[in-house]
Amino acid sequence: MIVVFGGNGQLGRELLRAAAERKTPLQALTRTEADIADAPSVAAALKRCKPDLVVNAAAYTNVDGAESHEAEARRANELGPAVLAAACAKANIALVHISTDYVFDGSKDGAYRESDAVHPISTYGRSKAAGEDAVRRTLDRHVILRTAWLYSAFGRNFLKTILQLAQTRDELRIVADQHGSPTSARELAEAILHIAPPVIAEPRLSGTYHFTADGATTWHGFAGCIIAAAAPITGRNPRVTAIATADYPTPAKRPANSRLDCSLFVETFGLKPRPWREAVQATTRALVTAPQLAENHVA
Ligand SMILES: NC(=O)c1ccc[n+]([C@@H]2O[C@H](COP(=O)([O-])OP(=O)(O)OC[C@H]3O[C@@H](n4cnc5c(N)ncnc54)[C@H](OP(=O)(O)O)[C@@H]3O)[C@@H](O)[C@H]2O)c1
Repeated sequence: MIVVFGGNGQLGRELLRAAAERKTPLQALTRTEADIADAPSVAAALKRCKPDLVVNAAAYTNVDGAESHEAEARRANELGPAVLAAACAKANIALVHISTDYVFDGSKDGAYRESDAVHPISTYGRSKAAGEDAVRRTLDRHVILRTAWLYSAFGRNFLKTILQLAQTRDELRIVADQHGSPTSARELAEAILHIAPPVIAEPRLSGTYHFTADGATTWHGFAGCIIAAAAPITGRNPRVTAIATADYPTPAKRPANSRLDCSLFVETFGLKPRPWREAVQATTRALVTAPQLAENHVA
């Protein structure tokens, strides 16, 4: 049995959907059912569900909001993983903890490897880096999976924002000097279920890995792909204009280079991520054809 914390987020809901498709026993707990920063709540959940593997999909993910809500971000992203890791250590359960490209500063020329030093440039990134450290310090049987630029039919994300803006605007001005890999939460969920059996069986697989879709683009390229996939169905084809980060000031600084080298994941687990465009096109088409998908809980 796999237990997911943060079951109501985009990754949590995709895990539930992917597990149902594969008939993998999985229970996804929402924040109301289990607060990862509350030790008694986590202990009770583990006692109740008796998992072989815990997945932490819970986090404070509002990157700009974290700049003015540091305590909240630290509670979910640092204290929460520490509490979860301690509970897993006590019960000898493996933990898959999800982390982010934003632990890096983006100054590297080329894709980041797991061995590269972290140097976050935002409060969110610092809180996630501290969460990773807490997991490493507290629990041997951990897999820290760093991903990037997640989107899904569920929740709030860039893909859905672009589709919404495209309904009313004739021009979208999108940042073209930040580079990364738009990653489908559905594909990440499938990857997590793929690695679950070996991670449960083989403690030697513990460590830090990168998993994103294959290839990279910019937010501008990501938006262009969404619009191109949606336009033949919606008839809405706004111009997508490239702008610089400096033209779109935000409370949080973001790395110019978010590319993650996933070769260690591929070599270790034998699963190669798909090109980023494929899932962006498929998710976009599914959403514009059947917008109700966005809100449905999949049993
Ligand atoms: N989104 C991205 O672009 C991105 C990029 C790289 C890495 N990641 C990482 O990927 C993981 C999944 O992200 P996501 O996009 O699926 O996030 P999400 O949609 O924002 O979902 C996060 C979930 O965590 C829950 N949560 C927050 N604090 C909690 C707590 N103390 N106890 C239990 N649950 C709590 C939230 O509950 P409520 O529903 O009640 O708010 C929410 O359902 C996170 O670790 C994130 O840092 C995300």
